[in-house]
Order: sequence, then structure tokens, then C-alpha cells
Amino acid sequence: MIFDRIKPLDQILATAEQKSLKRQLGAFDLTMLGIGAIIGTGIFVLTAVAANKAGPGMMYSFVIAGVVCALTAMIYAEIAAMVPVAGSAYTYSYAVLGETIAWMVGWALILEYAVAAGAVAVGWSGYANGFLREIGMGLPLALTAGPADTITLADGTVAKGGFNLIAFLIALLVTWLLVIGTSKSAKVTAVLVLIKVAALTVFVILALPAVQSANFEPMLPNGWGTPMSGVGVLGAAASIFFAYVGFDAVSTAAEETENPNRNIPIGLIASLGICTVFYLLVSYAAIGTAGAQPGGALSQSKEPLAFVLKNLGYPQVGNAVGIAAIVALPSVILMMIYGQTRILFTMSRDGLMPKMFSAVHERYFTPHKVTIVTGVAVSLFAAVFPVDMLADISNSGTLFAFLIVAIGVMILRVKQPDRKRPFRTPLVWVVGPVAAAGCTLLFFSLGWYTIKLFLIWAVIGLVVYFAYSRSRSVLAHGERA
Ligand code: ALA
Repeated sequence: MIFDRIKPLDQILATAEQKSLKRQLGAFDLTMLGIGAIIGTGIFVLTAVAANKAGPGMMYSFVIAGVVCALTAMIYAEIAAMVPVAGSAYTYSYAVLGETIAWMVGWALILEYAVAAGAVAVGWSGYANGFLREIGMGLPLALTAGPADTITLADGTVAKGGFNLIAFLIALLVTWLLVIGTSKSAKVTAVLVLIKVAALTVFVILALPAVQSANFEPMLPNGWGTPMSGVGVLGAAASIFFAYVGFDAVSTAAEETENPNRNIPIGLIASLGICTVFYLLVSYAAIGTAGAQPGGALSQSKEPLAFVLKNLGYPQVGNAVGIAAIVALPSVILMMIYGQTRILFTMSRDGLMPKMFSAVHERYFTPHKVTIVTGVAVSLFAAVFPVDMLADISNSGTLFAFLIVAIGVMILRVKQPDRKRPFRTPLVWVVGPVAAAGCTLLFFSLGWYTIKLFLIWAVIGLVVYFAYSRSRSVLAHGERA
């Protein structure tokens, strides 16, 4: 019953062929798209969260999360080149593991995309509020963080937040842009990528020479971490994993890519590789100059990279890096909401989500209804919850989806060995199991609270599937989606 209703790969490919979007993106565009989706709140904000969990040992956390993502990227490259259609992990699972698992993956991707958009909005608000304070226009403190978040006051005391106004507003603004048809413009993406890369480069150039080895002592104040504790090196790796998420966005552009069989693997692997190099340099420099002990100043900052530079005696550059984050991060929110709407759109086209979600606006030609529903939900998450909590919840969904894709690629090698594979994951029988084990390890390194929320979300998903979606499935009715 669980593994029935497999949507044949050839049918998926034929559907994509019929309503093919214009193929215009090349390897360079895809790499830019990937970096555009990857560099965001993770490195600019969660560096502080990772420091709080692992201390200087967060260097290892960056490496562990990076390795898991690199292995997964190779797997995504194989399947995305073989099935170059929109819908990402949801569509692949439909072809390999059947509708029930595909539904669960699609349901988990709501966490990956919508909740991540909320996390990026909250991360962005940390820099935006810092900037407003800097120019003397700071909001009342209660409006700078959600009720589930806290604010550290100047005297070191901690207060509860009220409503994160600016995170709420940025998510609504991005939603509006998407409704009127703003989407991934290759030129705008390239400019924003340059801004982010320039900010990180300047950070590294200024901070690296000031690194002091004493700041790495003690290296592992919270140890490696125990399962489901959410602290230590592994706990921080499970959280900082968020910084790497987004490379899979490259695969969602599959239908718009020229020569996808060559360009998608290049885009996936190049974007992730470039970001990993930056992350390792930035985290090393941040720890080495500011210290990263749990509870220390860096670990409590809501704008840690700007904080490090100000601390080093470069207040102007610190402000400039803050401004770069303020300018560039909204595009990450945009891509996350965009990805979410396209997945819900595909699920609706398959009959598993309400028909309303695939309605297209007559003037803007955008799926406006699903965009508005998604955008309002994202805005509310952003107004209420803290960034680390949203990022962890998002990671739980992403890790689940990555795990299923890793398993799916191996199953497909066995079931359809002769299908054309323009990119073959090297050593798939090593890379596949290690990636699957890595995703599982990171999943169980999240805090128990996050895992519990994921399980509740999964149960709700199953109830919705069996009570609503299963009987409405287009595939079950023999129609062609
Ligand atoms: N990787 C993206 C970020 O860090 C989601 O914001």
C-alpha cells in the first residue's frame, strides 16, 4: 500500500517536455543561482548560534555539515541530470518510491522551504534592526523579536520579545514581489551574489591576520554532543547545516536549463564548493579574532559578522557588511518562498493539494493564491519565532528529504540500471550509504524538541494524505498529470 502508485519516470519526463519552460540557463547562471540561495542567514547569523552550542569546535561542525552536503550534492546531481524536471525531491520520490513517500517528502519540504524562509527573514531582521539603531531610528525593543524569542539588553539582562515587526514586513514584501511576477532574474542574482561574496571576502581579509590561537582554547567546551541534545559539535553541525541548504535550488531550475545533463551537476557542485571554502575561512577567522565560547559576546550577537569587525576596530566596515547582508538576504527569502510555491503547485497539479494552489493569475501569470497563502504563513512564523528554532525545524525536513533522495538513487541504480545517466555519482555504493548515514546522524543531533515537532508534523501529514489527498490523486484516477 505504501509503495504503490509509482509515477513512471518516462511519464514525468514527457509531462516536462510538453510544457517545457524556455531553456536559457547555463552552468555559470546555475552556479550563481546556487550561491544566491546558499549564502544567507546561516553564515551571517547562525555562526553565533553554532558558537553557543559548540564553542571554537564549531569549525568541525562546519566541516561535518559541509561533507554531508557535498555527498548529497553528488547524489542530487545524478538524479537531477537524469530527471531534469521541477519539483525536486518530491518528484524524484514519486518516480522511485511511490506516492505515499513522495507525499511525505513534499510535506517535509514545506519545512525545508517555508520555515527556512521564515528563518532567513528573522536572521535578516537582526542586521536590519542593528542598522536602524545605528542611524538613530531603532524600533522599540519589543518589536525587534518575536514572543518566542529573547532580547539581550545593553546591561546584559535578557527580556522577552513581542512581535518581530521587520521580519514580518520583509516576508510580506517578498510575497508581494512574487505575486506580481518578480522571480529569479539572472542579472539581479549575479549582482547580489557579488555583494555577498564581496562582504565575506572583506571579512576574511580583515579578520584573518588578527587570529589569535588563544581564542581556540578550550576547543570543545561542550564536547562532541550526545544524540538529541542539540549541543556540542554535532548539535552545532545539525544547526549550521542550514547554511549549506539551497544548493538543491539548482535542481528546481532543471526545466529552464540548457544542456541540463552537463550544467546541473556543474552548478550544484561548484556553488556548494565555493560556499564551503568561504564558510571555513569565515568561521575560522571569526573564532580566531572574537573567541567563540558559549555564552560569550559573539555567541549572543544577532549580527555576529558585523560584531566581529566592530570589535576589531573597523566599525565602518562592520556597518558595510551589515548593509550587504540587508541588501542581499531578501533574495534568499524570495528563492525559498518561490521554491515552496513551485512544490505546492506541482503537488496540486498531481491532485494531492487543493486545486486552488495551481491557480494562475490572469494578468501576472503567477501562482498567486499559493504564493499568498505561503507568504502569510512565512510572515507569521517570522514574527513569532526565533531564528535558531526555525532553522532547526527547517533542517529536520531537509535532512529527511535528503535521506530519501540518497536511498532513492541507490534503488534506481538497481531497478533501472540501463537508464541513461549523464552524471553518475562516483562510488555510489560508498557515497550513497555514507550520505544517508550522515543525514541520519545530523537529524538525531538536532534537539529532542525539534525532532518531536518533526514527528508531530509527519503524523499530521499522514492524516491529511489518507483523509484527503489519496482519494484525489490524479495518478490514481488514471489521468495524466
Ligand atoms: N543557506 C541559506 C541560508 O543560510 C538557507 O540562509
